[in-house]
Amino acid sequence: MRSARRRLEPATIIVFGGTGDLMERKLLPALYRLAEQGLRVEDSHVLGVARSAGLDDAGYRAWVRRALHAAGLWSEERSRAWCDRCVHFQRVGGDRSDELAALGRRIESLEQAGGLPGNRVFYLALPPEAFPGVIARLGEAGLHRSRGWTRLVIEKPFGRDLLLAQELNGLVHRHFAESQVYRIDHYLGKETVQNLLGFRFANPVFEALWNRDRIESVQITVAEPIGVEGRAVYYERAGALRDIVQNHLTQLLTLVAMEVPGALEADLIRNEKVKVLRAIQPIDRDQVVFGQYARGRIDGVERPAYREEPGVAPDSRTETFAALRLAIQNWRWHGVPFYIRTGKRMPRRLTEIVVTFRRPPVSVFEMIDAEAINPNRLVVTIQPDEGFDFHVEVKTPGSQMRLESVCLRFRYSETFAPLPDAYETLLLDILRGDQTLFVRADETEAAWRLYAPVLEHPPQTHSYPAGTWGPREAKRLLRRGQRWLPA
Ligand code: BG6
Repeated sequence: MRSARRRLEPATIIVFGGTGDLMERKLLPALYRLAEQGLRVEDSHVLGVARSAGLDDAGYRAWVRRALHAAGLWSEERSRAWCDRCVHFQRVGGDRSDELAALGRRIESLEQAGGLPGNRVFYLALPPEAFPGVIARLGEAGLHRSRGWTRLVIEKPFGRDLLLAQELNGLVHRHFAESQVYRIDHYLGKETVQNLLGFRFANPVFEALWNRDRIESVQITVAEPIGVEGRAVYYERAGALRDIVQNHLTQLLTLVAMEVPGALEADLIRNEKVKVLRAIQPIDRDQVVFGQYARGRIDGVERPAYREEPGVAPDSRTETFAALRLAIQNWRWHGVPFYIRTGKRMPRRLTEIVVTFRRPPVSVFEMIDAEAINPNRLVVTIQPDEGFDFHVEVKTPGSQMRLESVCLRFRYSETFAPLPDAYETLLLDILRGDQTLFVRADETEAAWRLYAPVLEHPPQTHSYPAGTWGPREAKRLLRRGQRWLPA
């Protein structure tokens, strides 16, 4: 169960990709903030592993210092003390087995010098092509056998399709039990995503309405104003379906649609999520629309087309936008369309879930058709400006019966202290040994299986101007009278 009850034990956190972008922008700041909070993470040691020749502990600490500085976290006294005591570097350049043996000796010497209990976190902050090689070599070198516990953390994307995900799971399980594996989907670390469970299962008023009798449709949007931002090599091979839909969007969908688990325990929750994935009807081509951004303006600034971005093929058909209509064939959701979409170069950053409830079956108001009454809507904003809005109809003051939508509103920023970063939450859970917010092997395979028909026979890619909500064609996924929100 996700709770502070689980013991937090110090460990050696070995980060492969120790000088990479993820380490610099996300992991280091999160590790440092946790160490500052004194959650025993201060007793843990971080060992950056990378190919970088000529880098030693001192050079690495200088790099860490720059990274923490850039994140606005460096404080001369405290940060330097942490860095000098707890941050180390080991070069592992190629495939030679003696390098892994040297890494093993280094880990042991850190464990001894720091009086650590032999707990190890192997964090693969690497490009996905590197996962199989590193996992195999770790296993062959026996580094996962230690005096304490060992955990393996794998960043997304986990495989590129069902077959590769199955192969990767096979390899992982050759050396690690599933209870040692932490597949990251950083969306699950977001406070507002976790709140989907809190909100649904602590408020029976909504749970009672959470079904096909009361809900007309569900929309989930993950929109970003950014383009590919120097990640063209990865993105050209990935596209929006692999980059966001198979993981972040699908995770959000399962949390919205899952049944109430017997208890908030990792496997009980993950069982329910897998059941949702298995209940989704196979996807037909006419349930998917792909798009790619053309030139356009965002906030008054002219943006290049995707095909003009450095590293992108001039005739690329990679989708930077994907919209899908999914049908969940179970008792709760039969007949309720789930519309999901994501896109780069959209007008603004927004991750949002819109639950539209059914209208009254008949109207008792003279001059107002049932169809003209705005449906109740619950809008859960995952980011930014985290919170929710519940739209209800009220009578406007005056002698006539006129209705207007108003909104009951909650914002985290108005009620609580700033939300923790997703990586802080996830790292803490890894150290505690809580797998609730991590993707299980069968879950990732079920998600790949779901999208296999689309990956095998991708639809045509339509163009949309940067700064819009995607290609016009996405409208055809919706039923008559429905619209994308926002649009
Ligand atoms: C990553 C994707 O997983 O999530 C990126 O690879 C995307 O393309 C990012 O920009 C979005 O994450 P967030 O937390 O900024 O919504």
